[in-house]
Amino acid sequence: MTADELAPDRIMRLINGYWATGILGAAASHALFTHLEAGARDADQLAERAGISARGAQTLLDGLVSLGLVEVGDGGYRNTIEAATFLVEGKPTCLSSFAQLKLAHMGAVSTLPETVRVGGPLTDATVEVADNPHWEKLVQAIAAQSVPVATTAAELLRVAEAGEISILDVGGGSGIYSATWLSLNPAARATQLDWGPINAIARRLVAERGVGDRFTCVDGDFHTTDFGTAVHDIAVYSHIAHQEGPQDNIALLAKIRGALKPGGTLVICDFVVDDDRSGPPFALLFAAEMLLKSRQGTTWRQADYHAWLTKAGFDDISFHPTPSPATVILAR
Ligand SMILES: C[S@@+](CC[C@H](N)C(=O)[O-])C[C@H]1O[C@@H](n2cnc3c(N)ncnc32)[C@H](O)[C@@H]1O
Repeated sequence: MTADELAPDRIMRLINGYWATGILGAAASHALFTHLEAGARDADQLAERAGISARGAQTLLDGLVSLGLVEVGDGGYRNTIEAATFLVEGKPTCLSSFAQLKLAHMGAVSTLPETVRVGGPLTDATVEVADNPHWEKLVQAIAAQSVPVATTAAELLRVAEAGEISILDVGGGSGIYSATWLSLNPAARATQLDWGPINAIARRLVAERGVGDRFTCVDGDFHTTDFGTAVHDIAVYSHIAHQEGPQDNIALLAKIRGALKPGGTLVICDFVVDDDRSGPPFALLFAAEMLLKSRQGTTWRQADYHAWLTKAGFDDISFHPTPSPATVILAR
């Protein structure tokens, strides 16, 4: 293709990419996907059920059709199968609150030009700070993302058939791994390390799943909290490595190795990039999130994880794709 034959359409859509975040976030805020799933078929019906204007409902429907999340045909508007699976409220995989959270974060992206100039966050409210209110909203919103990943990891580790195992979740957030795995295995027990206010949220959510009696929390900074020695069969380090620098990752992974019984397995879940940083696309984009919000974080390469895990005392290391943009790394 020559330069004369090129059209600016793709770049126009990228420049206006915030429309996608806005339309999806606004539709999620008004539960439009849930109302469509329940049978609303046009702008007037949606407006009435959602308590919004008919003009606003039509605008969101047009945007959602453009984004490929809603289809329009003879019978009116319907969710695509993708929207029905991931945006209808009440399903464990629902990403609706995450869409609303990202809409609220949109202003921060406008600071990216200055952030890249100075090489890090412009405020002190970074992910490293204790009691950062950011986490309280984030951990609940991202729990749905981790459901397919926790399920994939459980299959790889045969968690359901593992009997009386002890699980350690470092920075466990919503407790989604514990909730999922304790539900699969009635003899397992889990301990989560996180900040106090986050553990309070996790205790509530894990109890709602009916497995709270086998779930213990330790409040504090995971850099300075003792993990114990040779006490756990499985450890989880999910979406933590991307906020830490290499030295802290090595130190934390070594502490986890010490907390695992001989032969125990570490499960890392994160957005891992190829060694030449040519992909995958989601992980490459996520590096900007960490530049905005952390002092040392980024999306790390497979080679980085391999080197750190080896230094931390692991030798059997494998990488596994999941049904999400995240990769699971198993290390023994
Ligand atoms: C991105 S969330 C990941 C939550 C969970 N592991 C998941 O994958 O859904 C990061 C979690 O680490 C916790 N965290 C971050 N820094 C921490 C620290 N220094 N000490 C304890 N917890 C920390 C946050 O409170 C949050 O729950």
